[in-house]
Amino acid sequence: MKRLCTLSVNGEPRTVAVDDTSTLVDVLRETLGLTGTKVGCDEGDCGACTVLVDGKPVLSCLTLALAVEGASITTIEGLAHAHGRGGELHALQRAFDEHGAAQCGFCTPGMILSAKALLEENPDPSVEQVKEALSGNLCRCTGYGRIVEAVRIAARRLQVVR
Ligand code: FES
Ligand code: FES
Repeated sequence: MKRLCTLSVNGEPRTVAVDDTSTLVDVLRETLGLTGTKVGCDEGDCGACTVLVDGKPVLSCLTLALAVEGASITTIEGLAHAHGRGGELHALQRAFDEHGAAQCGFCTPGMILSAKALLEENPDPSVEQVKEALSGNLCRCTGYGRIVEAVRIAARRLQVVR
């Protein structure tokens, strides 16, 4: 049986009909059409489906929609908006683009959201801290070096803005 569930998605209240087994990623992609969140393994192993729930990175393929009822969800579509600069890309998005940190791009939304959560807690992370924060996000293309570099470049730019 379906139930109504209200979430705040990228700053907007959204009420959706879900059943007990509806996952957050299915609600985001299929009900709300927010296909920026990717599904890789669908088993909690790859991190492609990472979104922020109340600012914390969460695997949306393993998260039931009803378990996060009332929470604030940020997807990659909301990042520029969340940055509060009229749709301008977030510093992480720009750094990934400029420094070749996205190749096929499948892992990129999850990587960027994990990185955003890191920078909220630690505005100046070391290489090791970035690697640790992104350890649950797998990339088949880049070898990770450019991703780590992009996160640190974005961190420095955000510190200048702050
Ligand atoms: Fe969720 Fe892989 S799709 S962890
Ligand atoms: Fe292709 Fe990471 S850029 S999986």
